[in-house]
Amino acid sequence: MNIPSWPQAGEREAELLHMVLESPQWGGFHPFVAEFEQSFAAYQNALYGISAFNGTVTLELALTALGIGPGDEVIVPAISFISSATAISRTGAIPVFVDIEPWSFNIDPNCVRQAVSPKTRAIMAVHFGGTMCDIDSLAAICREYDLSLLEDAAHAHGSEWNGKRAGSFGIAGSFSFQNGKVLSAGEGGILVTSDTDFAGHARSIANHGRIPGQSFYEHYRLGTNFRITGFQAAVLLAQLERLPEQIHHRERNVTLLKNLSAGTPGIVWQTQPSAVTRNSWYLLLGRLRNTQVTRDEFSDRLRAAGVPCAPFYPHVLYRNPLYSGRSCRVTPCPVAEASIQDAFWLPHRLLLADEETIRQTAGLISNALNKIREEPKAPLEATSAVR
Ligand SMILES: Cc1ncc(COP(=O)(O)O)c(C=O)c1O
Repeated sequence: MNIPSWPQAGEREAELLHMVLESPQWGGFHPFVAEFEQSFAAYQNALYGISAFNGTVTLELALTALGIGPGDEVIVPAISFISSATAISRTGAIPVFVDIEPWSFNIDPNCVRQAVSPKTRAIMAVHFGGTMCDIDSLAAICREYDLSLLEDAAHAHGSEWNGKRAGSFGIAGSFSFQNGKVLSAGEGGILVTSDTDFAGHARSIANHGRIPGQSFYEHYRLGTNFRITGFQAAVLLAQLERLPEQIHHRERNVTLLKNLSAGTPGIVWQTQPSAVTRNSWYLLLGRLRNTQVTRDEFSDRLRAAGVPCAPFYPHVLYRNPLYSGRSCRVTPCPVAEASIQDAFWLPHRLLLADEETIRQTAGLISNALNKIREEPKAPLEATSAVR
């Protein structure tokens, strides 16, 4: 097995890092920061980019810039990383947890519609694993009830819905550049938006309440310092050059792996709506079906064979200890609860492997299911033989 490590870097990162190192500006005012913001926003089909030191604070920044706070509700899927919910709670607003669709792992628009209340201000659409949500339906609900659509696109760099990229549908899209993400600087995040007023407001909050063209020491809003460094921007510029080819590579490998495992009963891969024209393939997600193998046995066996397989999250968001003592609203989430039991994911670095490794992986997946099925129930057999 030849599975690439992650993150990856080459001479381009070193070259750009060196340029920052030799400059008199290592901080957020290095020209690379603005260059990256513009390049990444354009890549995601948006006009403006506001970078920040991670993809959790970018969610908090977006909600704050929208004026969301105490007394408000924001609808969020029950399956996501904790930041999607805590960003809402940290503004003082209430997260309203709703179910996901059966096979897409993404927020279910029908559940969203049923959860809307007079207090609802926004919907947080998480493009889970890189597969885009049914963004048309979510946008229609937002129009109908006058809500803001915020995309948590932490997994969805380069993902598309009918040829339009993640983050360009809602008022803003939030991305993460944390160590494991498909575009990484170790840590980092960005908000992209095409709304000029929102962009100005968010940027001002992220930069101590300053306004462009005004004195450095004049502060017009309650802001703070969310800036990334020139070093992060240097790495991100270099990583962005490689991203399109890496996405193609993962696309090819996902197709190959799915074709090779088509004859292996027991796995249902995350569905890809026909409107998904491109996927970052941050995660290749699946659920086990009609097999005696438990998900934990399956993922343990794959890991033991050298395939990096994760047994999904240990619980839905509202079952975190945090939310037993904190205000939230929970709507019925049977699909999310069931997926906790039987879902798994394969990370994007596996999907960057060579063809031979993908063929081996398909064989190991089949073995991990078959081997357990064929295992005799030894202790019972032995006992009856002695009798
Ligand atoms: C769906 C989702 N949203 C937000 C975040 C937060 O990003 P960061 O780790 O950059 O704060 C993550 C991070 O893994 C994530 O998976």
